[in-house]
Amino acid sequence: MAMEARIANSIRRSAAVAQQADEDCRLRIEYLADHVSHLPRLAEWHFAEFGYLNPSNSFERYVERLTAALQKSDLPTAFIALDDDSLLGSASLVRQTITHPQLSPWLSSVYVDLPHRGRGVASALVGRVERAAAEMGFDRIHLFTPSSEKLYAGLGWELMEYSHHHQLKIAIMSKALAR
Ligand SMILES: CC(C)(COP(=O)(O)OP(=O)(O)OC[C@H]1O[C@@H](n2cnc3c(N)ncnc32)[C@H](O)[C@@H]1OP(=O)(O)O)[C@@H](O)C(=O)NCCC(=O)NCCS
Repeated sequence: MAMEARIANSIRRSAAVAQQADEDCRLRIEYLADHVSHLPRLAEWHFAEFGYLNPSNSFERYVERLTAALQKSDLPTAFIALDDDSLLGSASLVRQTITHPQLSPWLSSVYVDLPHRGRGVASALVGRVERAAAEMGFDRIHLFTPSSEKLYAGLGWELMEYSHHHQLKIAIMSKALAR
């Protein structure tokens, strides 16, 4: 299939998943910048889930990172998933991550609170981050994942290579963005 047709298909798939999630739970994806009161809880979640990736990580470091993402039209930025006012999860768009400094930008910190998993919330967050990257003018976006390669493959992301961060095997993936 031609590259453009594959990109269009994968965007349609992301949009369909996002729409399904929307119907399931009145899901809204919004900028963290518009909901600063959720930042401390998000920092707790991120530290608990991703803190192991770097020994120098701390709760305060995650507060700093999320505070830096309280903006909408530049990197870094962050989105949250909401059902009414309940926080369900988040995803970020950042310039650099812990590996491959030559690549930018990155989808980062995709997290959905345990009770809300399995109904498309992460897929909707990922789709929103992809759109933000495209709107900022990027034509490709990247991620690394130790454990969720299948989730992203289902959303049209392609494996670039396997790599290691300390002892951890990670998949480096990317996705072309339509503008
Ligand atoms: C991974 C995570 C974000 C998925 O959130 P979610 O809202 O449950 O994901 P979705 O409902 O959008 O899942 C979409 C699809 O991916 C699949 N999937 C979800 N998580 C997966 C995983 N870890 N591995 C493989 N497949 C996964 C789902 O089964 C679903 O498949 P389907 O469309 O065939 O039913 C969530 O489990 C989480 O926060 N985990 C802890 C943090 C984490 O590992 N983040 C990813 C870092 S790269």
